[in-house]
Order: sequence, then C-alpha cells, then structure tokens
Amino acid sequence: MRGLSTLARVARELREDVSAARDRDPAARAAGTAEILLTYPGVHAILAHRISHALHEVGMPIAPRLLSNASRIVTGIEIHPAAHIGRDFFVDHGSGVVVGETAEIGDRVTLFQGVTLGGTGFATGKRHPTVEDNVTIGSGAKLLGPITVGHGAKIGANSVVIHDVPPNTTVVGNPGHPVRIEGRRPEGPDTDWLHLPDPVADALRGLADRIGELERQVADLTGTERKEPAQVRPLRSRGQNPASG
Ligand SMILES: CC(C)(COP(=O)(O)OP(=O)(O)OC[C@H]1O[C@@H](n2cnc3c(N)ncnc32)[C@H](O)[C@@H]1OP(=O)(O)O)[C@@H](O)C(=O)NCCC(=O)NCCS
Repeated sequence: MRGLSTLARVARELREDVSAARDRDPAARAAGTAEILLTYPGVHAILAHRISHALHEVGMPIAPRLLSNASRIVTGIEIHPAAHIGRDFFVDHGSGVVVGETAEIGDRVTLFQGVTLGGTGFATGKRHPTVEDNVTIGSGAKLLGPITVGHGAKIGANSVVIHDVPPNTTVVGNPGHPVRIEGRRPEGPDTDWLHLPDPVADALRGLADRIGELERQVADLTGTERKEPAQVRPLRSRGQNPASG
C-alpha cells in the first residue's frame, strides 16, 4: 500500500517537473512532453532523483547512490538521494550542478547550470543550504553552508553566497550582497559594498607617508636631490561598478 502511494506521488511529481521545464524554459514552450522527457538533462536528473529519494526513504541500501551516480554520469547533475526537493523543480541546461545531502529545496525552484548547494567543510549534520519556494539561482552560483535563501529570492549568476538571504531579495557578486530587497535598492551605510575599508592599503599608505617625510628630511640635511615620494595605489580597480556583472 505504501509502495503504491509512493509510486503515485513520484508520478505526480514527474508530471509537474515536465510542466516546470515547459513553463520556465522559453525554448521548451512548443515542445511536447515526449521531447522534454527525451532531451532535457534537468528533467532526467530530477526523474532519477525522485526515484532514488523514494528508495532512500524506504531505507534501501546502495541502489539510491548507484542511481544518482548513473544520473550524474549522464546529465552532469549530482543530487544526493537524501536531498529534499519540492514540487515543480527545474534545472535548466544542467551540467555542473551539485545538490548536497542535507540540502532542502522548496517548490517551484529553478537552478541553472553550474549551481552548487554545498557544504563548507567536513562538518556533519545539516551543512547544506535550505532554499525556500519560488527561488531562482543563476548559472555558476555557489551557495555554501546551512544558510537559508528566503522565498522569492534571486541569486545572480556566479554569486558566492555564504549568509542567509531574506525573502524577495536579489543577491549578486562575491561575496554575495543584496542589490534589490522587495524590488527596491537597499539603503543605509551598511549596504555600501563598493567602498569597503581596506586596512592593508591604509597601513601601507601610512608607512609610505612616513618614509616620504624621512626622505625629505634626509634630502634637506644632506643637500641632495629629493626623490618622488612613494605612492600606494588602491588595489581595487576603478571605473565600472564591480557589482555590475
Ligand atoms: C541577478 C539577476 C537575477 C537579475 O535580477 P534583477 O532583479 O532583474 O536585477 P537587475 O538586472 O535590475 O540587476 C540589479 C543589479 O545587480 C547587478 N547584477 C545583475 N546580475 C548580476 C550578476 N550576475 N553579477 C553581478 N551583478 C549583477 C546589475 O548590474 C544591477 O546593478 P545596479 O543596481 O548597480 O544597476 C540576473 O542578472 C542573473 O544573474 N540571472 C541569472 C541568469 C542566468 O544564470 N542565466 C543563465 C542562462 S543560460
């Protein structure tokens, strides 16, 4: 009886995953169910995961890992059988995606290629991100540790996120920082990520000033020619906003 209800649930989840691909990939709008089932690695990966997760839940040894490993070889998407994934899940393009053992993913979540939901070390227990409903995670983004990404958040391509993300927030960059909260730019001094203090440059600048002063005094005392004082240039590149992708 339990087996039948598990089968019914897996079948329902798969139907939803196929329609998620159609809804969220503009290239799939005109594709039929058979085409999506045959050609979308993200759909193959979630199909394999739905089954490996069900086997893991009933305590079957080895088979869940074998299935998820076979799926990784074929799709380039590695999802641990123990990871919890909600309904309407979609991985676009696929390759290079890693979803760790204790990751929890809500409903209607979209991942692009190269996304990692990983741990930060060798700790055991809950060590992978929790991603709430309706979150989109851009290509190459790395979300590390037992952080929570609030519902409706967007994570920009190639971001590295190691802190919780509030709901309905857009986070970009490395380190990941909010550029939109509830659709508006964040305000206040703590959100000025472009002008972070640089204590090493400040210390070097202080030393250079003192050396310049000593050189001036030595030149005055000895009557020799003054040298150009040393310059300490900031390491941060100037010009375009570094958060502008
Ligand atoms: C972050 C993202 C979701 C955009 O969200 P949005 O709410 O539309 O935000 P905006 O485009 O208005 O960008 C907000 C700010 O973040 C910057 N930004 C956007 N994406 C960025 C990124 N990936 N990295 C760094 N900065 C980024 C923008 O330049 C803008 O900066 P500004 O406020 O100084 O002008 C989107 O840019 C993104 O990265 N999507 C992932 C898409 C993807 O992976 N596609 C793969 C297809 S194969």
